[in-house]
Amino acid sequence: MAELRLVESGVILGLETSCDETAAAVIAGGKVLSSVIRSQVEVHAPYGGVVPELAARAHDAAVGEVVLQAMEVAGVAPSGVEAVAVTSGPGLPSALAVGVSSALGLAVGLQVPLIGVDHMEGHLFAGTLAGPIELPALVLLVSGGHSELIAVDRPGAYRRIAATRDDAAGEAFDKVARLLGLGFPGGPAIERAAAAGNRELVSFPRAVVKEGLDLSFSGLKTAVRRYVEANPAAAVADIAACFQEAAVDTLADRVARAIEAGCYSTLVVGGGVGANLRLRERLAGIASRYGLLAAIPPPALCTDNGAMIAAAGAWRLSEGAPAGYLLDVDPGRSLVR
Ligand code: KG4
Ligand code: ZN
Repeated sequence: MAELRLVESGVILGLETSCDETAAAVIAGGKVLSSVIRSQVEVHAPYGGVVPELAARAHDAAVGEVVLQAMEVAGVAPSGVEAVAVTSGPGLPSALAVGVSSALGLAVGLQVPLIGVDHMEGHLFAGTLAGPIELPALVLLVSGGHSELIAVDRPGAYRRIAATRDDAAGEAFDKVARLLGLGFPGGPAIERAAAAGNRELVSFPRAVVKEGLDLSFSGLKTAVRRYVEANPAAAVADIAACFQEAAVDTLADRVARAIEAGCYSTLVVGGGVGANLRLRERLAGIASRYGLLAAIPPPALCTDNGAMIAAAGAWRLSEGAPAGYLLDVDPGRSLVR
């Protein structure tokens, strides 16, 4: 039976700078030896969202220390690194460029392979950090920039089953959080507020895309805005809880329909929104209802990290080392070509 697993590689350093997390990790022998994440939340919080130019500058300032710390925690000297994996896209162009040029410098200096990793493939490989993923798998990728369902038929063979027609799931959480004055980043803020709210108070609309499995969040976002305008005294906790319930329902419904329409052994979740406990609970329930294995990484591995990039890089390297050091930043990189 085909499966995806964390390759028992030599020492691989993974770097991630595609958005607002400067992250580095070391994996070796099928284990994560270190994972260091420096968040830029405080840099962007005053602006209510990620400011690309500030993100790049903050990555630049942090990347050296983050890499050194990852090697120190792993107990690995630079001379022990056997390959460098880095996110080359998708992501913010100037933020990606910091990671790619840092990784290039390291790889050339150490004379080891440089592996450009697709950020979304990284999110998928986060699932392998907890154990092998039996294929075929259905993967729900939900982050700040992406919401899609991908079928993995064989290692590296991806089919897009569905995508969002408008906002990504994380973007919807971030925009609604801003609307409710909950600050940035919105996902965790909504989840915290929702914990004290009544999720049954108002039923916001679920996905409006009737045909196929595509997702849509703009109708939900508009409905929340209208409700807030019409009910200025409504409790933020209740609105957050009702929004979260509608967003999770939308995702859960699409996943269940995709499972019914396909043939899968495992349900995998990747991306920052996968850290949401309500979503995790619902997806675990769906996997068990349909008799699928569930590969739901711990919340800290759903949000951006270097270990997932090292893991995807180790697998790419096992498929054949890239020749040379030509690696372009590819902000629009897509898992499905
Ligand atoms: O994968 P990720 O860390 O970065 C991107 O690749 O975009 O995802 C970030 C997104 C943000 O929109 C953030 O608000 C959302 O994931 N997020 C959450 C939670 N934690 C992060 N959304 C809902 N609930 C959470 N607990
Ligand atoms: Zn991500």
